[in-house]
Amino acid sequence: MLENKNILLGVSGGIAAYKVLDLCSRLKKRNVNLKIIMTKSATEFVNPLSFETMGRCIVYTDLFSGHHEEVHHIELARWADLMLIAPASANTIAKMAHGIADNFLLSTYLACDKDVVIAPAMNTNMLKAKATQRNLKILKDDFFSQSNTEVVHSLIFCQYLKTQTHLFSPFPKTLLESINKYQDIKQTK
Ligand SMILES: Cc1cc2nc3c(=O)[nH]c(=O)nc-3n(C[C@H](O)[C@H](O)[C@H](O)COP(=O)(O)O)c2cc1C
Repeated sequence: MLENKNILLGVSGGIAAYKVLDLCSRLKKRNVNLKIIMTKSATEFVNPLSFETMGRCIVYTDLFSGHHEEVHHIELARWADLMLIAPASANTIAKMAHGIADNFLLSTYLACDKDVVIAPAMNTNMLKAKATQRNLKILKDDFFSQSNTEVVHSLIFCQYLKTQTHLFSPFPKTLLESINKYQDIKQTK
């Protein structure tokens, strides 16, 4: 069950970002505690205010501001029960695969030792590109080498790998169902 879970949503720069607004609203209806990080590119597609409004939560965009009380990317990584990166752009996937942490989302991802669900969304050729496939494989291999939830990671990952082959693939209902299923599997472990 998702109720009262802390979900940290990372939004990167792809046209599917607007679909994630609806996902936020669905998550809120399930009483999920939500916090959101957007990349600079993501804010070109959807205004952070829209995410703030639909998610009724804080939206972080600037890695270097407001650290007087806490270092946000470290605290957010601690706070999360689950980190969801949706949409995950080819660029963000590439950087995640190589440990690059040059923005808020990527720094938090690197600091996060919790479960991570990634929803790649991009043009078919971008997805099929050898570099993207290589980067996805690196991430999948990383997941397999982690903790006891690795297979679930991989299942969700593969599902999206198979289905998210174009811009308007099955966000957000299917994604929500996957997260739900994931939480259920985790609880029975
Ligand atoms: C109109 C437009 C649509 C785009 N859609 C996507 C997309 O769906 N998926 C993707 O991976 N990149 C897409 N891009 C390219 C990314 O926005 C670009 O690679 C950007 O640097 C990603 O930055 P980020 O990963 O830091 O968010 C699009 C670019 C434009 C101008």
